Amino acid sequence: MKFFLKISLVLIFFGTVLTACDSKHENINDNQASSEEEIIDKIENKEKITFNDDIKPLFQVKCAICHNGSGLFDTQDFQAVSKKIAEIKTRVLVLQNMPAGGLPEAERELISVWLEEGALENNL
Ligand code: HEC
Repeated sequence: MKFFLKISLVLIFFGTVLTACDSKHENINDNQASSEEEIIDKIENKEKITFNDDIKPLFQVKCAICHNGSGLFDTQDFQAVSKKIAEIKTRVLVLQNMPAGGLPEAERELISVWLEEGALENNL
């Protein structure tokens, strides 16, 4: 009986922690370039995801505060980003530790589709 009591307490504890993390996450998401639905819509309906239309605005919100060319590569500059494709793949999509805490799934998916389609600058 004591064992089940302990297990219940542990579950309640983690339940509370997870719920707390989740609501914090939603607050962060309020700041993102587009809502999750907008991003999913874009991925499904747009012919091509491009740097100028889709990735640059996302990087502006999520990366440019640190990656502005003074020390760290400039995420608003297509040429600079092009040289970092492999690193972006590793850090943002595989390890998911850049930025710290990672990006929401929809934003990772948008970047992933952009890379799969050839990391295009624009539709021209
Ligand atoms: C809070 C500041 C901060 C934000 C926001 C941030 N980064 Fe970084 N990033 C760093 C720092 C500092 C380093 C260098 C240290 C390291 O490698 O962890 C770095 C390293 C990297 C690297 C590998 C280093 C290189 O030049 O090869 C990549 C790729 C990268 N960031 C991409 C991004 C992308 C893409 C975003 C946005 C989705 C982003 N970062 C958001 C601070 C940040």
